[in-house]
Amino acid sequence: MIDTAAIRADFPVLARQVRGEPLIYLDSAATSQRPIQVIEAERDFYARLNAAVHRGTHALGEEATDAYEAARDAVSRFVGGGEIVWTKNATEALNLVAYALQNTTLDGGPLALREGDEIVITEAEHHANLVPWQQLARRTGATLKWLGLTDDGQIDLSTLDRITERTRVAAFTHVSNVTGAISPVAEIVKAARAVGALIVLDACQSVPHMPVNLVELGVDVAAFSAHKMLGPTGVGALWARPGLLDQFPPFITGGSMVEVVTMENTTFLPPPARFEAGSQATAQVAAWTAAVEYLERIGMANIAEHEAELTAHCVAGITQIEGVRLLGPTKGGIGVVAFDVDGVHPHDVSQFLDAGGIEVRAGHHCAQPIHRRLGVRSSSRASFGVHTTPAEIDAFLDRLSEVRRYFGVIS
Ligand code: ALA
Repeated sequence: MIDTAAIRADFPVLARQVRGEPLIYLDSAATSQRPIQVIEAERDFYARLNAAVHRGTHALGEEATDAYEAARDAVSRFVGGGEIVWTKNATEALNLVAYALQNTTLDGGPLALREGDEIVITEAEHHANLVPWQQLARRTGATLKWLGLTDDGQIDLSTLDRITERTRVAAFTHVSNVTGAISPVAEIVKAARAVGALIVLDACQSVPHMPVNLVELGVDVAAFSAHKMLGPTGVGALWARPGLLDQFPPFITGGSMVEVVTMENTTFLPPPARFEAGSQATAQVAAWTAAVEYLERIGMANIAEHEAELTAHCVAGITQIEGVRLLGPTKGGIGVVAFDVDGVHPHDVSQFLDAGGIEVRAGHHCAQPIHRRLGVRSSSRASFGVHTTPAEIDAFLDRLSEVRRYFGVIS
């Protein structure tokens, strides 16, 4: 059990009203709200120790660098250890990996994919874990394949044989940002490991909502971002198992990632610095520590239990409303519930809910293929955070049950 009343008091935004109604924020999957501890941590960086990191030889530079590197330790610890590279978001982290795989290693070895190689993703991916692989396939002549989905949006393990001896990369989401379904990681990792593929996990929707130990999951690289886990915007993480990044060539080049530069040539620093060219989002990185500590204080197992209960409660309510179709599994999802309202466009659903102070996402949620697979162009989506309460879900369900009448679909 978690103390949602105490938690809610930490989130200043939850005190505001929207259109004259108390705010009910059900869009944490798009971006989470921030507790005061994170807001203060970012302010504190600017107020007390603002300086360029890994550059200044003065006290402020050292303290800023310490805060920046302490965040790396905190984020790594949070996901079970391993290397962390700061990126501007999870999308950049995934692009970095795809870029590395179209090039040779630092010393010219064969990292690059070639014609005949295969990349396997799933039909559940959001665009950040789909488009970079599609582009990589185009640029290298490799073939993009994908695991299919069941009618309720779960990864269909009967399609696991699409991972073959030719598979060089297996990239998949841990938790769907549309259905909330948790992927069968162990089965996919086993199949990909058996053929020596690089295993890439999109952990954007899992790391904020459940205990995740990337080392124990046995993946090679993973991506997630701060802003979905109560942290600042503008910073993401590329996670890698130790040693893997040593052979990756640089992605963005410039200052702070070099050893010796002459007019003819450059030698590069080892990871993570090799992948952190230019000035970084230092205050945001430093404040990520506060988000990690906040989540750790509550306990990720407690958070997962809370959000799984909210999800089950919401799913049960939605399936009772006539004319509203659940897009996703009836059991086992976490944090996210998408639905289609017969006769009402998702944008209208969202605006009707918004008029009651309830914020949900409407559209394709940056995941068009899964919508196509589920037979719709777009959907409405409620998603939850550590501060969400069952009473908020009830208020959402009550208003949702009025939407078809309001738009004249039923009388
Ligand atoms: N992945 C983001 C979302 O689900 C775009 O809203």
